[in-house]
Amino acid sequence: MSTAKRVRTAILISGRGSNMVALIEAAKAADFPAEIVLVAANLPDAGGLERAAAAGIATASVDHRPFGKDREAFERALDAELQAHQIELVVLAGFMRVLTPWFVTRWQGRLINIHPSLLPDFRGTHTHARALEAGVAEHGCTVHFVVPELDAGPTILQAKVPVLPGDDEASLSARVLEQEHRIYPQALALVASGAVRLEDGTALGA
Ligand code: GAR
Repeated sequence: MSTAKRVRTAILISGRGSNMVALIEAAKAADFPAEIVLVAANLPDAGGLERAAAAGIATASVDHRPFGKDREAFERALDAELQAHQIELVVLAGFMRVLTPWFVTRWQGRLINIHPSLLPDFRGTHTHARALEAGVAEHGCTVHFVVPELDAGPTILQAKVPVLPGDDEASLSARVLEQEHRIYPQALALVASGAVRLEDGTALGA
């Protein structure tokens, strides 16, 4: 067993959590530099919560809806969960809430996201449909540090896939998702080990 201190990591989800599962699997290796200690969701019925619990990981649900338009109040409740578990690194995996500058600044350099496009192309939602609509030859996914501007943070890792004749949203998203599951654990390891870090707005070491 490795004696190196592993970085206490939380995964935030909103849905099924297939990236979360890939991260949990990777972190089972004794020499993986991050330990997944908490999975938190903004929707109590997010399917990933059950999958995390089944893997023996602590779960929390902080429903954003009672907070109405007060995003920061929701984030303070979420942050309290993160503090309670002494979290050092936060990984967004299909977490579909836009975070305020308050939260992003608080976790600056310790907050990463995976986005289903080759950023800076197709920020925001419905990325696969928009890629098909635009007729691009290549599509993919990006792991990046989160900064206050949406989907605009510096890239840690990217993976490309071809767009094939006859692709629809389902076939293209499945091809991209396979790459997400491959690169997200790699990116988390790079950040948790300190090999890549956010400095002066760039991903140093990426
Ligand atoms: C993933 O494709 C992820 O890239 C995307 O949501 C999906 C979640 O799937 N994230 C975003 O669109 C963030 N803006 P998962 O719950 O199976 O990991």
